[in-house]
Amino acid sequence: LAKDESVEKLSSHDASSDLSNRHLLILYGSQTGCAQDVAERISRQARRRHFKVRLHSMDDYERENLINESLVIFICSTTGQGDEPTNMRKFWKYLLRKNLPNNILNQMKFAVFGLGDSSYVRYNWPAKKLFKRLLQLGAQSMLPRGDGDDQHYLGIDGALDPWLKKLWEVIMENYPLAPSLEVLSDDILLYPLQKFEEKNEKINNGEMYARLVKNERVTAYDHFQDVRHIELAIDDTEPKYYPGDVAVIRPKNLSEDVNEFINMMNLSDVADDTFILVPNDEDHKIPSHWESPLTLRKLFKDYLDIFSTPRRSFFEFLKFFTTNEDHIEKLKEFCSAEGQDDLYAYNQRVRRTIAEVLQDFSSAKIPLEYILDMFPEIQPRQFSISSSSKVHPGQIHLTVAIVKYKTKLQKEREGVCTKWLSGLIPDECSIPIAISRGTMKLPTSTSTPIILIGPGTGVSVMRAFLEERINDGATENYLFFGCRNKDKDYYYEDQWKQYIDAGQLKVFVAFSRDQDKKVYVQDILEENAQLVWDIVHEREGYIYISGRSDKMPTNVMDAFKYIFISEGGMCEEDAEKYIKKLEMTRKYQQEVW
Ligand code: 2AM
Repeated sequence: LAKDESVEKLSSHDASSDLSNRHLLILYGSQTGCAQDVAERISRQARRRHFKVRLHSMDDYERENLINESLVIFICSTTGQGDEPTNMRKFWKYLLRKNLPNNILNQMKFAVFGLGDSSYVRYNWPAKKLFKRLLQLGAQSMLPRGDGDDQHYLGIDGALDPWLKKLWEVIMENYPLAPSLEVLSDDILLYPLQKFEEKNEKINNGEMYARLVKNERVTAYDHFQDVRHIELAIDDTEPKYYPGDVAVIRPKNLSEDVNEFINMMNLSDVADDTFILVPNDEDHKIPSHWESPLTLRKLFKDYLDIFSTPRRSFFEFLKFFTTNEDHIEKLKEFCSAEGQDDLYAYNQRVRRTIAEVLQDFSSAKIPLEYILDMFPEIQPRQFSISSSSKVHPGQIHLTVAIVKYKTKLQKEREGVCTKWLSGLIPDECSIPIAISRGTMKLPTSTSTPIILIGPGTGVSVMRAFLEERINDGATENYLFFGCRNKDKDYYYEDQWKQYIDAGQLKVFVAFSRDQDKKVYVQDILEENAQLVWDIVHEREGYIYISGRSDKMPTNVMDAFKYIFISEGGMCEEDAEKYIKKLEMTRKYQQEVW
């Protein structure tokens, strides 16, 4: 532990000091961990202001207690096309209950900060809706909603920093400190979230595991992208999944990467000692899926994201753990308001990893107690399931593009999850997995026609739909697929051929790079305008769209607009209304990422 006198004393939370009313609840909805990071940052700032903090994802919080809360900060991000992150959906559903009286939260003061991307139409929708709903339920807003924007040149920090400044002004006005206390400055190290204790008693963490059965590359070896068809075997007793459902997979780091990291940190001597983690504070919980006891090697391999880009808090902690004057100065600058441009350029813009930063600041020695304060947890990733459980009982199939890219420093990088998945060998590996309900649902009747638009790995969920529908006897299935070349990345072609031959499916493919001019799914939709109009309008068919969320969803919607204008004789405004109506009646569903 660092110098004793500069560490916040646990006693500051004593009931004996007059801190009895300084209770703050922070609730977050986070998909990739950014909103959680903001929530944790606010929690540290609150601890510096002598608040007793509880911090939970919205769905982990006992929502029935909400009526007793007096001070709550909500942080929520946006996923898909303006959807709530998975870990706030139950909470949000609860808030929407019609039987909640309009004044039920009138004892609550609250603030909301949203994280989103203003290039999307439904920018920060979850935060906007949450803010409005809390007001409706009688809660009092302490300050206008904050909207963090990925498009800002400083990322969400651009809006967050001034919002936080205002937030603390308002809160400290309402909750002034007793004269004997003062706000702890950034030069005082907070006590760590947990301590290590030696122990050897095994606790089972109850996670569900799937066995890897197949891991097959489905794109040509000379194609730019490695896409895998993965088959997993699950226990038959596990709950059944439905078409549209999503597999949630918690990846691990690769052993060789972790070994290198441990050597770099000079931790080889202690890496295999067993210990248990004990929270230092009753409100801080060690994640329930973590095994206990643990070793440091396991902690770095299975649970901590040591290859992610560090958050600002990382630098705030790091400055305490070096005595090198140059490093201290640089780190202090990174933590100052004026240093934010420099920090962004050093860190996020070039996607430096925690491991690389620790190499640059090699003088720093992080006390083990602070590891969980500084390193984020590996976040689970979501993949649309590409099989039907009726057709493949006891199996889950996935279609996964292996993520590879170059950073602005021309360094090759691979996505943590897909890198791990791509190296797994069938029958040798088990994979921690959970299933979460998807947002897209098939029509109840098999005679209702469906149009499926899924370019690239967007076809994954479409395969699940097709297997299920065809198993149930449906024949009115129309798939619009897009890929680069017929010979390189037209995966599942053979399976479609069987369905086509049996009269169960029609497929339209846009090969974008087999000719000079690019052809995309939206182009072949327009080419088949009459058929599409007939399916949607005359036969009340359903439309499903899945794939990467850059321009494709908007381009496809424009194609439908064009079809409704040209075939349905509508003006542009009516065509837009028509699409809105399809969306409202769940006949136009999309899941994009
Ligand atoms: P491209 O890579 O040749 O541009 C699956 O990734 C397919 O989707 C590829 O053929 C890709 O084409 C195509 N694609 C890229 N951008 C698209 C867009 N805006 N709309 C539809 N398809 C797109």
